[in-house]
Amino acid sequence: MLDQSLEGFPKSYRLDSGLECEVRPLEARDETPFWEFFQAVPQEERMLIKHHVHRPEVIADWCSKIDYGRNLPLLGFVDDQVIGACTLHQQLGGWKRHIGRISVFIHPLFRGRGLAKSLVQEVIQIAQQSGVEKLEAEFIAEQERAIQVFAFLGFSDLLRLEAYVRDMQAVSHDYVLMGMDLTTDEEYAGVG
Ligand SMILES: CC(C)(COP(=O)(O)OP(=O)(O)OC[C@H]1O[C@@H](n2cnc3c(N)ncnc32)[C@H](O)[C@@H]1OP(=O)(O)O)[C@@H](O)C(=O)NCCC(=O)NCCS
Repeated sequence: MLDQSLEGFPKSYRLDSGLECEVRPLEARDETPFWEFFQAVPQEERMLIKHHVHRPEVIADWCSKIDYGRNLPLLGFVDDQVIGACTLHQQLGGWKRHIGRISVFIHPLFRGRGLAKSLVQEVIQIAQQSGVEKLEAEFIAEQERAIQVFAFLGFSDLLRLEAYVRDMQAVSHDYVLMGMDLTTDEEYAGVG
């Protein structure tokens, strides 16, 4: 089902500023531009990403072991530069096997042009077509803009825990878990 939902890629987007952007899943040949993209992550945003993405060997490892069933990174490109990434993370077993997690990061110079909204929307659709039943996304409360994007696309708060997570400077932050139920086409077909 996942293969089918990826058939439409690459896709071409025109961003709010009129900039043309190509969107497609990560491929092994993207190792260098994908690593360069993560070098643009400001220091204060590094804690928002769960992996050591400034290390080339981490990105090399991702690109050599691409498994869309586990991690499907959808990338936005302008020319050969990666300007945004939105990933669908899935666990293939265990009690969260029906739940996908979405994360998104947009290059600081390309924010405010609608790219996050478009990429997250695209990943929601892929998840739905692939049979994922629920989606979740994790934030600290200060990520108001990201929370706004996910709320706009249908996510709602599942949980807020005060001073629950801690950054590299040992400062505590409120933890926010948002979620969304995905209705399958069959369920829609039964309505009305
Ligand atoms: C949060 C983030 C993903 C948004 O990306 P983006 O491409 O700038 O978002 P969009 O352009 O799609 O904008 C979506 C909404 O953000 C808000 N927004 C956009 N530009 C803004 C700006 N300059 N100031 C304040 N809010 C802004 C608006 O609500 C906008 O909706 P609108 O178009 O209806 O006004 C991006 O800032 C980012 O990567 N942040 C750091 C990482 C992060 O927080 N990731 C989420 C973890 S899952």
